[in-house]
Amino acid sequence: MLTGKKIVLGITGSIAAYKAAVLCRALIKRGAEVQVVITPAGKEFITPVTLSALTQKPVVSAFFTANDGTWNSHVDLGLWADLMLIAPATAATIGKIANGVADNMLVTTYLSMKAPVFVAPAMDLDMYAHPATQRNLERLKSYGNHIIEPGTGLLASNLDGKGRMEEPDRIVNRIERFFEKEKELAGNKVLITAGPTQEKIDPVRYISNYSSGKMGFALAEECAGRGAEVFLVSGPVERTTVHPRIKRIDVETAEEMYQAAASHFPEATIAILCAAVADYRPAQYSKNKLKRQAAPALSLELTPNPDIAAALGEAKKNGQLLMGFALETENELSNAQAKLRKKNLDFIVLNSLQDRGAGFRGDTNKVTVMDAEGNASPFPLKSKSEVAADLVDLLVNKKRTTE
Ligand code: C5P
Repeated sequence: MLTGKKIVLGITGSIAAYKAAVLCRALIKRGAEVQVVITPAGKEFITPVTLSALTQKPVVSAFFTANDGTWNSHVDLGLWADLMLIAPATAATIGKIANGVADNMLVTTYLSMKAPVFVAPAMDLDMYAHPATQRNLERLKSYGNHIIEPGTGLLASNLDGKGRMEEPDRIVNRIERFFEKEKELAGNKVLITAGPTQEKIDPVRYISNYSSGKMGFALAEECAGRGAEVFLVSGPVERTTVHPRIKRIDVETAEEMYQAAASHFPEATIAILCAAVADYRPAQYSKNKLKRQAAPALSLELTPNPDIAAALGEAKKNGQLLMGFALETENELSNAQAKLRKKNLDFIVLNSLQDRGAGFRGDTNKVTVMDAEGNASPFPLKSKSEVAADLVDLLVNKKRTTE
């Protein structure tokens, strides 16, 4: 249900605007309060009278109401809403909001919006496939906006392809699920470590590994989307976070990662240790660049780094859940199981380097999750964000059954 949820429905000039009435009705039926903001072109496709009758509110389209000069405040709408949905979203509006071209009430409302934004594109297949549209959609995703992918089928142009606005019922289901998910970890603080660590040898060199941080960052977005406050302790990676509930703490070395993780762990109800922490660091840091030597070999003495997972496992209290990762190249299941026990984890996520598409750098992962009770669940190859959703499902279920 959407009881009490305030939704700004943005409607733009696409033939799919005729479906906006059904969408409006479906949102209201499930308990939402809807305020329509329509572009001038949108009004050519559906009349504001229909929409205001359905929503019981005047439809907002211009900055001022012409006859009495009333100012329509986009800023107030941005603060009022629990969610903004732009459906249908034309290529023009997608381009404007992606680039901040604030020449109508809908775009200014979007730019003032404090709430999550969902965008349901509707256009001809070639316009949808055009790199300009795709780049704009990617840009919207990078702002944290949610794209409701269009369907494939017969289009108004009589062409067949991808570009049909998603069906109103499915859009509403997606929004309902979004609000439901936000409750699953509400009130929880989740600590996540991600990426590699860099262990300095001298001012220009370090020891590190191939970790990209993708899995840890996907987990951070997923936990934040479930309502948790996330502390993401990340080693050096070229990644950005999107969700406003993620607080990122950047570190370089294992020692710094350990300090940051240990200081946030006491307030966390869940910790996910996804980082590929260097097991060793150079015993001595050379302030000056090491020079090539005449002797044939150079030995570097290494000293062990703190094991963050093991330290948190030791400090773990009732009500705290710990998930670790294991990247194994041999005896995968038994090595991972032993690690789970040794580090006092509740779950260990095994990715094997022998599986194609699993592990470092790629956008996909194939994992087997083992729990402290000895159960092993293998998952198929999926995108890292889908894997993140599976892993967080396990944590949410575990919390439910233990609370
Ligand atoms: O022992 P191993 O490195 O294989 O264990 C992997 C798990 O332990 C991962 O969850 C990793 O993030 C964590 N770990 C850690 N600190 C270390 C080494 C590993 O937190 N120094």
